[in-house]
Amino acid sequence: MSNRMWGGRFASGPAEIMEEINASIGFDKRLAPQDIRGSLAHVAMLGQAGILPAEDVAAIEAGLKSVRDEIEAGTFVFKRELEDIHMSVESRLTEIVGPAAGRLHTARSRNDQVATDMKLWVRDTLDSLDQQAADLQRALSQTALKHAATVMPGFTHLQSAQPVTFGHHCLAYVEMLARDRGRFRDARARLNECPLGAAALAGTSFPIDRHATAAALGFDRPTANSLDSVADRDFALEALAAASICAVHLSRFAEELVVWTSAQFNFVRLSDGFTTGSSIMPQKRNPDAAELVRAKSGRIIGALTGLLIVMKGLPLAYSKDMQEDKEGTFDALQALSLCLAALTGMVQDLEPNAEVLARAAGSGYATATDLADWLVRELGLPFRQAHHVTGRLVGVASAKGVGLEELSLAELQEAEPRITDAVYAVLGVGNSVASRTSYGGTAPDNVRRQAQAWIERLG
Ligand code: ARG
Repeated sequence: MSNRMWGGRFASGPAEIMEEINASIGFDKRLAPQDIRGSLAHVAMLGQAGILPAEDVAAIEAGLKSVRDEIEAGTFVFKRELEDIHMSVESRLTEIVGPAAGRLHTARSRNDQVATDMKLWVRDTLDSLDQQAADLQRALSQTALKHAATVMPGFTHLQSAQPVTFGHHCLAYVEMLARDRGRFRDARARLNECPLGAAALAGTSFPIDRHATAAALGFDRPTANSLDSVADRDFALEALAAASICAVHLSRFAEELVVWTSAQFNFVRLSDGFTTGSSIMPQKRNPDAAELVRAKSGRIIGALTGLLIVMKGLPLAYSKDMQEDKEGTFDALQALSLCLAALTGMVQDLEPNAEVLARAAGSGYATATDLADWLVRELGLPFRQAHHVTGRLVGVASAKGVGLEELSLAELQEAEPRITDAVYAVLGVGNSVASRTSYGGTAPDNVRRQAQAWIERLG
């Protein structure tokens, strides 16, 4: 049997394999709420514009609502031969309403319909990702406030560099998430033009009111070019690009959690709720959730790359290739949502091991820069010379296997005779972090102030 939605000129139905490759209902059924929202806005406008009689509009509206109820109740039967969500809804509408249902598709096409549905879905998802990112920022800011003065080693090249505070480290991710949220909002703002009414590609001869449908669906305005309206998937690409960058941030934090929870580092403890045991090694507490957050960035970036490749070189306007936008976009944004939720849970439960962190912060000559800065500030040495003197002292301490603060004044004065007792104050990690009061620096007062400001801003 030929397709009842478009089979007029076809003598027979599609080959089995054609149906399989062509059908998107398996994954686009999740667009049902958006599809029905779009249809309700469209049919109301057709009525207002005098294109459809009021009784048909009323019948179609009532019918669409029962379809929506059936889908929500889980009683709706999705059939592969109906290809996609648009034809599935319309076909069921026809069963409920009769031939008047056929008037719903006046002055539109599946091309503008699917673009509208996808935009609505991506917009809703960007809004909820923004909220989830704010939740993670909130959890990080609380932890930052609590640990504004908890010292830990700061790293460059994963080598101990200078002491920082645990709170400062948390706030670094709060800043990254703020940029991620900015990107979500930018993408949303650019997305917010309505393609509905562009029809197949050229617009329509019916006197439709695209401003009305745009407003009814919460868009700022209708799209300005009908070809671009149905050929554009920038909004999905931008959402995926923003999601990819966010996923990269989350993966960096996840990697730190994996390293920090190892027995060798022992910097933090994850709760039982976010670790798993090993079936053979009883001592293990594996950070599986963090590992999966680290890994899921792969599929999110993969979805972005995949869709960029689908879109590149496509001639205007719509091509069926574009149906491939869906699975990757759904999967990637859902994966990001899961990662945000999992990391928020981990941060809320996380316990830094303050003693281990303090010990590690002081090891590896992490206060060498403080010594060099002291020589510059107190003795007026040029920084390069101070660097050289400090280097010599690090060499002496390291040969003896002791910390800089354990060298005697006599030993220090061998490298630079003008050094006094006062230098010991800057060799301790507490003094080191407290002295970093420059704007954006790690001093506990700074961290406390910034954490407080974030907590207020996030509400
Ligand atoms: N399922 C299709 C998609 O997702 C809907 C648009 C189909 N349009 C068409 N002319 N065949 O892209």
